[in-house]
Amino acid sequence: MTWIPEVASNLASKVDGLLILITLLSLVFFILITVVLVYFAIKYRRKREDEETPYITGNEPLEIIWTVIPSILLIILFVYGYVVFKDMRTPPEDALEVTVEGKQWLWTFDYYNGKKTINELYVQHNRPVRLVMEAPDVLHSFFVPAFRVKQDLVPGRYTQLWFTPTKIGTFDIFCAEYCGTGHSAMLGKVIVLSPEAYEIWEKGVKADEGAGVASLPPAELGEKIYKEKGCNACHSVDGSVLVGPSFKGIFGHAAVMQDGSSVNVDENYIKQSIIEPQAHVVKGFQPVMPSFKGILSDEEVTALVAYIKTLK
Ligand code: CUA
Repeated sequence: MTWIPEVASNLASKVDGLLILITLLSLVFFILITVVLVYFAIKYRRKREDEETPYITGNEPLEIIWTVIPSILLIILFVYGYVVFKDMRTPPEDALEVTVEGKQWLWTFDYYNGKKTINELYVQHNRPVRLVMEAPDVLHSFFVPAFRVKQDLVPGRYTQLWFTPTKIGTFDIFCAEYCGTGHSAMLGKVIVLSPEAYEIWEKGVKADEGAGVASLPPAELGEKIYKEKGCNACHSVDGSVLVGPSFKGIFGHAAVMQDGSSVNVDENYIKQSIIEPQAHVVKGFQPVMPSFKGILSDEEVTALVAYIKTLK
């Protein structure tokens, strides 16, 4: 079926089944009622000026039929919906846990083994995953259309979500709750790996970043990181002002800070801005950037610096 997203989790076909049943039932009743309405309007229209309306007091069998049939259908829909809902709300005990933080405007994922990724959730094919989610700032919503799962992240409490990915591949994550300027750029990917590839990834080597990426020139790797790690949600490369300053033409020039001081934008300033974003905030911007300490490696920071240097 092409009008609905790919089916890539254990829950997807259950949600689709319910959706299709409700849609078909609605369609059948829509057609039935419309046809009868039009037919009656023609058949029982007033034909002469002095025609009188017949006096009808009721029809018990008919009333029983149109009460009982819809009631049964609604009960079926309720039970079906409840069964699917309960399934979606009850993670299996052996599910692998990943902590998710959704913040303006990126996703971070913390794994049981201390690994941490940004905007890319790595999971294993056919292995249930439970996401424990929190938001430090405002409401966000974690939405993976191909898995048919969506859950709000609420400041001040944990929410959860689970699924078993049933297809190897890469699937979109959207933020489905308006959360400010960078909302539309708050995107991510779920990367479903085969058990073998997942094992390699768990041990430290990123499965999708083999020799091919490691051998990229630093500036190109920096551009890839800029796009994949969420920098682009707040920093443009064409000079336009978003939530944060643009990266265009900043390298090697002085920038005025909030306290009026002037700082030269060099390698150290960029590195510090990534690791301790609040240390020197550029004048005219809010101190909202999260720290990327422990999230980006030294190598990745160096690649970003190399990329920013090319943006003249
Ligand atoms: Cu986060 Cu919208």
